[in-house]
Amino acid sequence: MEEKGAVEVTEAQVAVHWKEEEHFYPSASFIGQANMADPGIFERFKEENFPECFKEYADMLTWDKYWHTMLDTSNPPFWKWFVGGKLNACNNCVDRHLPTYKNKAAFIWVPEPEDEAHYAMTYQELYRRVNELAVFLRDFAGLKTGDRVTLHLPMVLALPITMLACARLGIIHSVVFGGFSGKACADRVEDSASRVLITIDGYYRNGKLIDHKAKAEDTEKLGTVEKILVWRRYPGRYVSKAAMVEGRDYFIDDLLKDYIGKSVDPVSMPVEAPLFLMYTSGTTAKPKGVQHGTGGYMTYVAGTSKYIQDIHPEDTYWCMADIGWITGHSYIVYGTLSVAATSVLYEGVPTYPDAGRPWRIAEQLDVNIFHTAPTAIRMLRKAGPDEPKKYNYHFKHMTTVGEPIEPEVWRWYYNVVGKGEAVIVDTYWQTETGGFICSTIPALQPMKPGSAGLGMPGIYPIVYDEDRKEIKAGEGRAGNICIKNPWPGLMQTIWGEPERFIQVYYEKYCKNKNSKDWHDWPYFCGDAAAQTADGYYRFLGRVDDVINVAGHRLGTKELESAALVVEEVAEAAVVPVADEIKGKVPDMYIALKPGYTASKEIGDKIKRVIATELGPISRPKNVYIVPDMPKTRSGKIMRRVLAAISNYMDIGDVTTLANPDVVELIRKMVQGEEVKPPKEVPEELKRFGAAE
Ligand code: WTA
Repeated sequence: MEEKGAVEVTEAQVAVHWKEEEHFYPSASFIGQANMADPGIFERFKEENFPECFKEYADMLTWDKYWHTMLDTSNPPFWKWFVGGKLNACNNCVDRHLPTYKNKAAFIWVPEPEDEAHYAMTYQELYRRVNELAVFLRDFAGLKTGDRVTLHLPMVLALPITMLACARLGIIHSVVFGGFSGKACADRVEDSASRVLITIDGYYRNGKLIDHKAKAEDTEKLGTVEKILVWRRYPGRYVSKAAMVEGRDYFIDDLLKDYIGKSVDPVSMPVEAPLFLMYTSGTTAKPKGVQHGTGGYMTYVAGTSKYIQDIHPEDTYWCMADIGWITGHSYIVYGTLSVAATSVLYEGVPTYPDAGRPWRIAEQLDVNIFHTAPTAIRMLRKAGPDEPKKYNYHFKHMTTVGEPIEPEVWRWYYNVVGKGEAVIVDTYWQTETGGFICSTIPALQPMKPGSAGLGMPGIYPIVYDEDRKEIKAGEGRAGNICIKNPWPGLMQTIWGEPERFIQVYYEKYCKNKNSKDWHDWPYFCGDAAAQTADGYYRFLGRVDDVINVAGHRLGTKELESAALVVEEVAEAAVVPVADEIKGKVPDMYIALKPGYTASKEIGDKIKRVIATELGPISRPKNVYIVPDMPKTRSGKIMRRVLAAISNYMDIGDVTTLANPDVVELIRKMVQGEEVKPPKEVPEELKRFGAAE
């Protein structure tokens, strides 16, 4: 979104607790065992040593043919890493571990029904399953290197097995989040021109067996699809009501019987061969097919899994994300297996059957590395603030990812979930970046609540204002964060849309489009950030989530964070409302912790706290205490929907939400019983939250 003038966040607007400067240090026992506790890393990865520094990560992989040139910048911004190299991602995740770890669990799968047994799959077993499926995909489905295949699968072992089987043959997978509708899946099938769709009959979520195959019945749209291959939640037993279409739909478990014991060597792929596509929302309605390559991506996720996640082969690592998002690709499957971890995969949601479930699983499996998002942390804090204390587990390391985390929530995560024993890394990154780009190195840099830390080794961020001037650390101003340099994990392009790739990520800050010098091509992240004097970055939300109130730029996150200071508040969401005088003002939606009831007093208290913490300019126009926030299936609050309600705009389709019914309740609360005609609002508001 184009906005002119300085991107200023004045002192008054930065909430007191976001000025938080308390540092927390890792324990001696953590440092003693850490993969990366050598301060020499700062020297090795300093700017003068770029790009050669990345050899350290590349050497964590097994290359079939070693590369000859570290970085080729001849066609900016289509950077080429490790030129001349050849490797296979599946080999790096599976085959190469067999001599040492064949009997170790690669995955432990936790089904939702608590009376179904956990399933630990060894590396040897994974190797067998992946081989058989790869031969099946080649011989039965006719898939070959370079083809695209769409996977619409939930959190079952079939998903990583299918991804790895594709990677083994150089087939480009495009995983669509299981919670997405058939229509959303069909759009992605079409964009990637997949001839094969791989799905499942059903899976458990919130105590219900979801009919998933039914979503594939949007046949009219599945134009390019010739075959639909169907896994079954219970092999041999079909749990979907949707008919199997003769000559198009096939049960994988039935057909795989003919492939038992078959093997195929991993195909030695050129380093730049695409490994997968991952569709993500942009500011337009059409999702972008973010394309990641084999060698650069694998190098980056291996390096960060080892140094930042601190994964050792003997650890039991649990990332609660869904594999349908980039976090799951990088830090449940590819990065995690590349360092020979045991990776936990679970079906269902964290709060069903109760908010003790994650901690029960952690105790049962003796998980020692835990990875989740602020949304899940807030949800668990709201639903079961004391639950972690009831279970005997011990984490050494925890991650938060995906959104800014409010210091209050961070402290609960640290003290209650982590029992004061675990380090926390607040990892900032994006689908586009492949892996973490800002974080602390856990044994070397202290944690600071609400701050993602510094640029990671080999990543040199810079904050620019709208006039392309650098905003320095400690200036107390926010701007647009960019990364000065390319790095191996960065996306290669947008599938089929190279121009859009340049336009979205480079147009705004490219210094000279004819230049072949990477210094002229900073990568634009699309987030507002401020850097404190110690170099740590605070993220203020997407630049399209920023609210400009009377010429002042407010991060919606700052207001939400301030509201969380109020004891009764569990969740807060802020949206811009058109205002005749001030341009825009914030409206605030609040969900309370259990045991509290909505009252005018609580509303007034929130307004007061915000006015004192952030200054009167930030005072919300309205504070609505709602029964629940409208949320996506992945748990993100749909601010777009709230903004539409506040502004009397068209609310759009909400059927894919986790709780669509709450939308009408909130609408009535805000607008009254009667449905009013839509109001005229500025263009900018119509785009608000489009990135959701
Ligand atoms: C936001 C998720 C603050 C940011 C891995 C980014 C964060 C978007 C953090 C990408 C963090 C991610 N602190 N904000 N630690 N991590 N974000 O593509 O706005 O689903 O641009 O990737 O999430 O979301 P995506």
